Amino acid sequence: MIKYMFQPHGDNRGQLVALEEYKDIPFEIKRVYYMYDTGEGVVRGHHAHKTLQQILICIHGSCKIKLDNGREQKEVALEKPYEGLYVSNAMWREMYDFSSDAVLLVLASELYDENDYIRDYNDFIDFVNTLESR
Ligand code: TYD
Repeated sequence: MIKYMFQPHGDNRGQLVALEEYKDIPFEIKRVYYMYDTGEGVVRGHHAHKTLQQILICIHGSCKIKLDNGREQKEVALEKPYEGLYVSNAMWREMYDFSSDAVLLVLASELYDENDYIRDYNDFIDFVNTLESR
């Protein structure tokens, strides 16, 4: 689990975080999306990606992320606008416990591609096993 602590540029006016591809973010940023108005008790995600890498930043409010690489599971809380969670490919993820004011920003290494999704957990385990047996 890789958590990034970004550098806030603070002064008496407030805070600013700047993120550049290949510098603060370890890939070319091809897509940005964000989730907000997430209902209470909602769990999002429930999928993995074959190739996509992402950085998740809860830029307002808080939420929790569960990451599962097929061998072990870890839970992490995102509650600061200057911290980012790296989510590699071949990683099952679930996002939950969104505060009502949460805005979860995602920086993605690829454009949206439905064929890159693994939506069935057993297919995900098969995918991980195939990667490891190479
Ligand atoms: P979905 O994959 O269900 O979100 P998550 O699994 O992260 O909770 O996406 C919700 C909808 O948004 C779905 O109809 C697909 C669409 N979508 C896009 O059009 N582009 C995107 O980049 C993403 C992430 C989703």
